[in-house]
Amino acid sequence: MKKVALITGGSRGIGLGIARRLVLKEFSLAINGVRDPGQVEEIMAELRSHGPEVNYYQGNIGHSEDRQHIVSRVKAEMGRIDILVNNAGIAPKERKDILETTEESFDYVMGVNLRGTFFLTQLVANLMVGQKQENAENFNCIINVSSISATIASVNRGEYCISKAGTGMVTALFAARLGEFDIPVYEIRPGIIKTDMTAGVKEKYDKLLENDLCVQARWGEPDDVGKVAASLADGNFPYSTVPPGLQPQPSFQGTGWAVRHQGSRQALAYFHRFA
Ligand SMILES: NC(=O)c1ccc[n+]([C@@H]2O[C@H](COP(=O)([O-])OP(=O)(O)OC[C@H]3O[C@@H](n4cnc5c(N)ncnc54)[C@H](OP(=O)(O)O)[C@@H]3O)[C@@H](O)[C@H]2O)c1
Repeated sequence: MKKVALITGGSRGIGLGIARRLVLKEFSLAINGVRDPGQVEEIMAELRSHGPEVNYYQGNIGHSEDRQHIVSRVKAEMGRIDILVNNAGIAPKERKDILETTEESFDYVMGVNLRGTFFLTQLVANLMVGQKQENAENFNCIINVSSISATIASVNRGEYCISKAGTGMVTALFAARLGEFDIPVYEIRPGIIKTDMTAGVKEKYDKLLENDLCVQARWGEPDDVGKVAASLADGNFPYSTVPPGLQPQPSFQGTGWAVRHQGSRQALAYFHRFA
């Protein structure tokens, strides 16, 4: 049976890294983004060249109507959603000290990163529950791309950190709720990845990386995250879990700590499933 993955923000950066890896594993792709379809034609053609069906669904995940529209169109045109990758995310338009953060910037970042992720997950989770009731053997999962900022405090972009910490709880909540349906919910917390989002701070991080910021002295690439997501989507970790209350640590303890991903020394990417 055809497997369909919906990837938000899948036409560039980390999302594209994930899309490229999933298409190699023969997933059909529903790629979401806010840009006009004309702007992503080349990327869609590249993904399609690998064989599987690839469709683009324009829409802002921060808007309720857009979310409904995206999910109902994917369902109508592609038949199902087996994997949801909540990757779309934004940084504040302007980095400001938390003593000066504006309500406008707070709402802007939270509206996409947290509210959008929560309610898109809710929509797709309901769809997946129905799919699992029809065919319990079929593997479905949800993968949230949060950030090391879920645990590391950066006082010049507090709203971003709060949105990513909140995404950690979105993961925990849906993992706990969907456990009875055998739908794992994972989270990847990337470190410093070379994308448009980090282009503006490239020189700063080039220097920090030279000075021992990360375990490996290089930028992470979207493909590094793509490989992790593809492994999760492939169903290789069906029984990964972290006991509620445990915080991510740079070393693994217990059955839940399965992957140490590129990131800073303080908080490395991880994924988990609450049973
Ligand atoms: N880069 C890093 O170092 C890093 C580290 C940790 C976590 N992350 C997280 O990883 C994710 C991807 O980041 P990135 O670096 O790849 O960013 P990016 O290069 O700026 O790409 C962001 C993607 O999200 C899409 N997007 C933005 N707002 C959206 C909205 N309202 N609705 C739907 N799609 C939307 C964009 O769509 P368009 O292409 O149509 O504009 C784009 O495809 C984000 O959640 C980010 O917070 C990044």
